[in-house]
Amino acid sequence: MSAQGFHGLKRQVPLKVADGRRPLGVLAALPEELGDLVAAMRAQSAVESITLGRREYHVGLAYGVPCVVTLARVGKVAAAATVSALIHVFDVEAVVFTGVAGGVGDAVRVGDVVVAQTLLQHDLDASPLFARFEVPLLGRTHFAADARLTAQLANACEQFLAQQGAALAARFGVSDVSGTSSTRLPQLHQGLVVSGDQFVASASAHAALKMAVPEALAVEMEGAAIAQICYEYGLPCAVVRTVSDTADHAAPASFEAFLATLAASYSSGILQHFLVAYQPQPAGS
Ligand code: ADE
Repeated sequence: MSAQGFHGLKRQVPLKVADGRRPLGVLAALPEELGDLVAAMRAQSAVESITLGRREYHVGLAYGVPCVVTLARVGKVAAAATVSALIHVFDVEAVVFTGVAGGVGDAVRVGDVVVAQTLLQHDLDASPLFARFEVPLLGRTHFAADARLTAQLANACEQFLAQQGAALAARFGVSDVSGTSSTRLPQLHQGLVVSGDQFVASASAHAALKMAVPEALAVEMEGAAIAQICYEYGLPCAVVRTVSDTADHAAPASFEAFLATLAASYSSGILQHFLVAYQPQPAGS
C-alpha cells in the first residue's frame, strides 16, 4: 500500500491488525537498533508495509502482539514526525522506542541497559524567556515515561540480561574501545535519559552535559521528543537504550563497533521478552 489514500489509512489499518485491538507502535532510529523484529513478524504472519513520509511502517503481529514497526531515522524532528504518524495514521495504543545511547551516569558502562523513567531535551534553551530545558508553552522540562509500560520493559530487560548478560559481556571487548573491563556483567539502570540533536563525543561536551543535568544516565537523540509528543496526546510511551559508548572522545569508534556487533542482539532480545509478556493497555485508557 502507498501513502495515497492517507485519510483512509487511519480507519483501515488498525482493523487489519487484529480483532479491533489497537496496535503497539515500536520504533528505533537505525536498522541495527530495531534488531530482527520485522523479520520475526514476517516469520509469524503476513506483514503489510506502508510507505509514508519516506518511512516504511510494517503492520502485523510480533510475538502475538499487533504492532506497527518503523524506523524514525536520527534526531528529534525525525522522531517527533514518526511518532505523530504512528498516532494519527495507525492509531497506536502506546509507543516503545529501542536503541543505543551514550552513557553519562557515573555507574553506567558500555553494554549496560538504561530504561527511561523521565526524559528531557538537553539542547532546548529559550532562556531568559523560559527556564532552561523548558518546552515553551507546555510549562515543563521533564516528560515521564508511562509507569506500567516502563515496568514491563524493565522486566524484559532484566530477563534478557539474566539470560544473555554473561555471553554479551564476553563480546564487549570487540566493541568497547574505551578500555572498560570486559568481565563486568551488564546492568540495568532506570532514571533520566536526555536527548538532543548532537552526538556527544568529547570530554568537554560530556562534562558540560553532566554539569547541566547531573542526574542524567544516558544521552541520545530521540527519546525526549517522543515522550513530549506522547504527553501531548496522552499516549503511554517507554524508552530503552543500550549503552554503546560513554559520550567522550572514544564515542564515535565505540558507537560504530557496538552498532555493528551488539546493538541488534540487545534490541532483538529485549523486544522478544517484552512482546511475549506484553499486557495491552487497560480498556478505556
Ligand atoms: N547515541 C549513542 N551514543 C550517543 C552519543 N554519544 N551522543 C548522542 N547520541 C548517542
